[in-house]
Amino acid sequence: MEIGFLGLGIMGKAMSINLLHHGFKVTVWNRTLSKCDELVEHGATVGETPAAVVKKCKYTIAMLSDPSAALSVVFDKDGVLEQINGKGYIDMSTIDAQTSIKISDAIKAKGGDFLEAPVSGGKTHAEDGQLVIIAAGHKALYEEALPAFDVLGKKSFFLGAVGDGAKMKLAVNAVMGSMMNAFSEGLRLVERSGLNPGTLLDVLDHGAMSNGLFKSKGPTMLKNSYNPGFPLKHMQKDMRLALALGDENAVPMPVAAVANEAFEKAKSTGLGDLDFSAVIKTLN
Ligand SMILES: NC(=O)c1ccc[n+]([C@@H]2O[C@H](COP(=O)([O-])OP(=O)(O)OC[C@H]3O[C@@H](n4cnc5c(N)ncnc54)[C@H](OP(=O)(O)O)[C@@H]3O)[C@@H](O)[C@H]2O)c1
Repeated sequence: MEIGFLGLGIMGKAMSINLLHHGFKVTVWNRTLSKCDELVEHGATVGETPAAVVKKCKYTIAMLSDPSAALSVVFDKDGVLEQINGKGYIDMSTIDAQTSIKISDAIKAKGGDFLEAPVSGGKTHAEDGQLVIIAAGHKALYEEALPAFDVLGKKSFFLGAVGDGAKMKLAVNAVMGSMMNAFSEGLRLVERSGLNPGTLLDVLDHGAMSNGLFKSKGPTMLKNSYNPGFPLKHMQKDMRLALALGDENAVPMPVAAVANEAFEKAKSTGLGDLDFSAVIKTLN
């Protein structure tokens, strides 16, 4: 199966390498083209533009930072739309439902098929093919993409109409962003009370709040290590989009709103490119 891949950031790089290692032929493109070099070492070929990639491949996946990046690769000159007739396009970025629907409508109007497929899980899950894929849109394209999803993820959901996957993903991240802030406060509280924060990790892990997030981020936070698995600026983008979804649906989200403020504060103090767990630094 030949697959195009647009966007070789933290996630896109891991995902495309994973596809290559599982025998897929992958043609990659990245805005900063030099980032394609490492993929070539893993057997990828390079497309000079998003349009060139789509022209070459029956299916193209995108993994881009935010709504404006997702729109840009589709609508700009040399973008996806120029070659999408008869092809399938799968956007796995975390974006809002409106943006996803706008992309879907434009692709359908040009004779292509569209699937949104945001993911839950971070860099290590992407490397290990353990993502959770939350898809919606063109059902036949979802079924055709399953061999790739089976490599990228441990579980795939198909939710229905375009926009529903985006909304579900934003709800998931609203929970995660809120949890990270509560976790940060607990760690600081224990530390400033003269206790060992490592013991807090153990206590949490043996109780009802044991979870993969605390397990993976706790030890690195104790080491003051914030290499970006999930950049804080993207977490804040997701909180912002989740709050807008809450607003549209008249859902009060006071906890997520406060978490968003903490991420915004962290971003404004230069922590945006660090891992989102660096939000604990706002409690210094
Ligand atoms: N990291 C995670 O743990 C994680 C988990 C689940 C979901 N996500 C979501 O997955 C997506 C990618 O995340 P990431 O962590 O891989 O981000 P990242 O490392 O910051 O990579 C972002 C990618 O988007 C590209 N990009 C940014 N602006 C662009 C533009 N205007 N036009 C074209 N390309 C553009 C970047 O290209 P350049 O290299 O040229 O900058 C890069 O390839 C985001 O939507 C994020 O919310 C991330």
